[in-house]
Amino acid sequence: MRPVEWEKLYRETGTEQMPWYYPTLDPDLERAMTKMGIRGGRALDIGTGPGTQALALARLGFTVTATDISETAIKSCRVMAQKQGLSVEFRRDDILKSTLKPAFDIIFDRGCFHALPPEKRPLYASTVHSLLAAKGLLFLKCFSTEEHMEGGPYRFSAGGIRECFSPHFQVISIVKTLYQGTLNPLPKALFAVMRAL
Ligand SMILES: C[S@@+](CC[C@H](N)C(=O)[O-])C[C@H]1O[C@@H](n2cnc3c(N)ncnc32)[C@H](O)[C@@H]1O
Repeated sequence: MRPVEWEKLYRETGTEQMPWYYPTLDPDLERAMTKMGIRGGRALDIGTGPGTQALALARLGFTVTATDISETAIKSCRVMAQKQGLSVEFRRDDILKSTLKPAFDIIFDRGCFHALPPEKRPLYASTVHSLLAAKGLLFLKCFSTEEHMEGGPYRFSAGGIRECFSPHFQVISIVKTLYQGTLNPLPKALFAVMRAL
């Protein structure tokens, strides 16, 4: 994967044109939370981008912090939150040098992890673990090795996810799914639910 200049991208492209733009709550997250009876708590959305997932979680009653490496993305999210009358703490933060304070009950990552350099994955896994409350949950969506489109983020198998996260997490489930957004066809993805050890 070629490195992405996220700030440049958000300055030059409207968020609704982004391949990952999805205006409502990710259906895999919604299904998992319903199944597990999760109705509220402190939520962190890492790599929030257009902010749609953070805003959807706030609408459901979660206390939401949402971060992105791009200041432009964060500024645009703040405008969206104000327009929608929703309260979310949107802040610029690089998850690989995070200044966030624990503890979150749930963390959602829809497309940030799969864009990080491979050598940073252990740092990502330990950072996310440290940001969760005891037995907190990580919901992770990333491209699958079954997706063969040209370009785009890194791809993962279920085994690859387990290898990366098992030092810090109990893997509850990993299911095959699609990455909802503006691409046609939708890319093949994996959705993982993990509990902090
Ligand atoms: C594929 S987009 C997904 C955006 C959003 N989660 C969604 O589902 O609409 C990945 C996002 O991760 C952000 N990102 C990339 N590297 C990051 C880092 N080190 N720390 C925080 N955010 C990062 C990018 O700016 C981008 O908004």
